[in-house]
Amino acid sequence: KILILDFGSQYTQLIARRVRELNVYCEIVPFTHSFVPDDSLKGIILSGSPFSVRDENAPMPDLQGYHNTGLPILGVCYGAQLLAQSNGGEVVPSISREYGRAMLTVTDPTSPLFRGVSLKSQVWMSHGDTISKVPNGFKLLAGTDDVAVGAYVIEGRNTYGIQFHPEVYHTTEGAIMLKNFIVDICDCKQDWTPDSFIETTVSELRQKVGKDKVVLGLSGGVDSSVAAVLLHKAIGSQLTCIFVDNGLLRKNEFVDVLESYKGMGLNVIGVDAKQQFYTALKSIEDPEAKRKAIGKTFIDIFDQESHKIQGVNWLAQGTIYPDVIESISVNGPSMTIKSHHNVGGLPDTMKLKVVEPLRLLFKDEVRRVGRALGIGDHLLSRHPFPGPGLGIRILGDVTEEKVTLLQDADYIFTQMLRKEGLYEKIWQAGVILLPIRSVGVMGDERTYENVVALRAVVSTDGMTADWYHFPYEFLAKLSNEIINKVKGINRVVYDISSKPPATIEWE
Ligand code: XMP
Repeated sequence: KILILDFGSQYTQLIARRVRELNVYCEIVPFTHSFVPDDSLKGIILSGSPFSVRDENAPMPDLQGYHNTGLPILGVCYGAQLLAQSNGGEVVPSISREYGRAMLTVTDPTSPLFRGVSLKSQVWMSHGDTISKVPNGFKLLAGTDDVAVGAYVIEGRNTYGIQFHPEVYHTTEGAIMLKNFIVDICDCKQDWTPDSFIETTVSELRQKVGKDKVVLGLSGGVDSSVAAVLLHKAIGSQLTCIFVDNGLLRKNEFVDVLESYKGMGLNVIGVDAKQQFYTALKSIEDPEAKRKAIGKTFIDIFDQESHKIQGVNWLAQGTIYPDVIESISVNGPSMTIKSHHNVGGLPDTMKLKVVEPLRLLFKDEVRRVGRALGIGDHLLSRHPFPGPGLGIRILGDVTEEKVTLLQDADYIFTQMLRKEGLYEKIWQAGVILLPIRSVGVMGDERTYENVVALRAVVSTDGMTADWYHFPYEFLAKLSNEIINKVKGINRVVYDISSKPPATIEWE
């Protein structure tokens, strides 16, 4: 495996993704991690950082332990500067901060790091400091017009530093450089595949769980579904799944999804708890208060149901890697913008041990594993859907009537996306019921009814997003269809905000 030492760069996760795409396993650890070498470790990558190595409070790990292993090291940006400075080199502020594209000229094409890389290629820079002097024994490998030290190697060692970011898309030959480092220099075998992951995880799960019983909360989403099928493969009927209808799911979702789970051989208890959720949500308008009410009701019901199963001692969750990476936080704990209720977990009183078979995987890897497990595309390619569901797409208080109205409009939207071949092009789409009414005219009658907003965004991880540029004809058809078919809606608008500054959901 490869170890990625995180200094807080926004790109650290991207480095990990690139390594994983080479079918090589890697882990991200904070730079404060106490390092214990093990046989599976083949190389170390030092990430970038928002800090400058000259800052008083800059992250300064003791790298000696890493050096002592003799393993290959690749410093990226801050990582490269740190290696240079800690070996007696000099890092100074750049005359101008360097962000964006630059042309890299490879001056030592014989270096294994640049095997197969063009002599001139585009790279992506993002730094305010520059290495002005490299220590003795450092050999320059590449540079740009503005940055003399674009890449170096410590002579006689497999330690490299590069000033640019090979992991970003705009470094056009970055993938080749990373492959050179990971496959050739670190000598990693490219055997981290969905099949090998399934094989190892199934045997680990069997060992861990033994003859015990496990309960898992299904949501209809990709992560919990893949976790369930994986566990089912490992322990069969020892697994019971609970799927709660919170009354905030999409139209027909509960029945449809329950049906497809049964087709996969899973033992699923479907719980119709709609009325409990509507009661808990009655008259609550504040988004966070709604989330809390939904979260609490879910926990109560899940707790109740799981107590009905005899002798359960494990709780399985579909937690994935981005939720568990202990990234270093630069500005202290980040502000709570929305409390995503599924991150809080379940109460201690349940006294269950937790098993999270997907905690090492990124979302795209979860999908690949799902595919290898034979789960159908209709489940795997589904858009993300928030845990509180339509509850946070009805602005203001939630009632059963509003849910039905929204479900109908949302259904038309989703169906049309699928029919027009747009569903797969979009990260996430939905309809939002606004808490205002507007005047319209239907036939000769004046109407005074609801307004809905359409939301459709493209994104790679949900962290940033841009609105989807629909053809006007599509919008026209959709608006017509919703207004004509859903009684109670007389106006449709399209949300053209990106995230940031807006968010994907409206609440
Ligand atoms: P925002 O609205 O913050 O959403 O841009 C980012 C992603 O998170 C989903 N989301 C939630 N998921 N519980 C969830 O499980 C929540 O409370 C919640 N709020 C937002 C949202 O749908 C998008 O995919």
